[in-house]
Amino acid sequence: VLHGDGPEGGFSFEGGLGRWDIAQLQRGYQVYKEVCAACHSLDYVAFRNLEQLGYSEDQVKAEAASWQVPGIDPDTGDSIMRPALPTDYFPSPYANDVAAAAANNNAIPPDLSLMTKARPDGTNYVYHLLIGYQEPSETLATNLPDALPGPGLYHNPYFPNLNIAMAPPITSDGQVSYNDGTEATIEQMSEDVSAFLTWTAEPSLIERKETGWAVLLFVLFATILAWFAKKQVWADIK
Ligand code: HEM
Repeated sequence: VLHGDGPEGGFSFEGGLGRWDIAQLQRGYQVYKEVCAACHSLDYVAFRNLEQLGYSEDQVKAEAASWQVPGIDPDTGDSIMRPALPTDYFPSPYANDVAAAAANNNAIPPDLSLMTKARPDGTNYVYHLLIGYQEPSETLATNLPDALPGPGLYHNPYFPNLNIAMAPPITSDGQVSYNDGTEATIEQMSEDVSAFLTWTAEPSLIERKETGWAVLLFVLFATILAWFAKKQVWADIK
């Protein structure tokens, strides 16, 4: 299994002083919505959470309304689909696991909310998984023919199983149209959606780091204080 270091230059939120790139998270959300949401749910994210990505309350309302979620008709009691409200969570694209498996060669597309936490070095993992599809090498074909992808499977050396049931989801430049002027190359879209999925998995990532610095500063201050207090308490003892 290959392990990559992530995109060139890394992600903006890496390191102790990392920050979200809000424009990138918005682009990543667009990739999720237009590409991944056809198969993957985002169970732990509510539409109102999108306010953290810089959208106003009204924009979130409008965005939520562009999604359909299961509901109940108040008059008849029938199950219906209705436009989502900001308080709703992102819907699953399939009615249940059986339907999900039936549509995907017997593999169930996992929920993506916590994916970057569920896999080691998850942000970089998702990035490389998306751009890592390859033709199996000659060496593999000659020496390990059993490891070649079976029907409906795709060779991807970044996937622990080597063969993944997900067809390459991001396949061509310009697959989504960004409206912030960023060029939507395959790498760019993959990087953006990996950043977005890092936010879904830990929306408070940046606050956590900021709290860490505050705690360190306080501990330093308390240590200095304790040092002088000790000096004073023992000042008379020679
Ligand atoms: C699995 C991401 C689009 C179907 C996965 C996994 C990730 C992922 C991270 C899990 C790999 C693991 O278990 O370590 C994405 C992203 C997408 C996307 C970011 C959009 C850019 C799609 C689409 C489909 C799909 C459009 C369906 C047409 C699947 C299936 C699996 C899977 C069936 C399970 C594969 C297996 O266990 O062999 N995806 N996906 N995905 N995805 Fe996607």
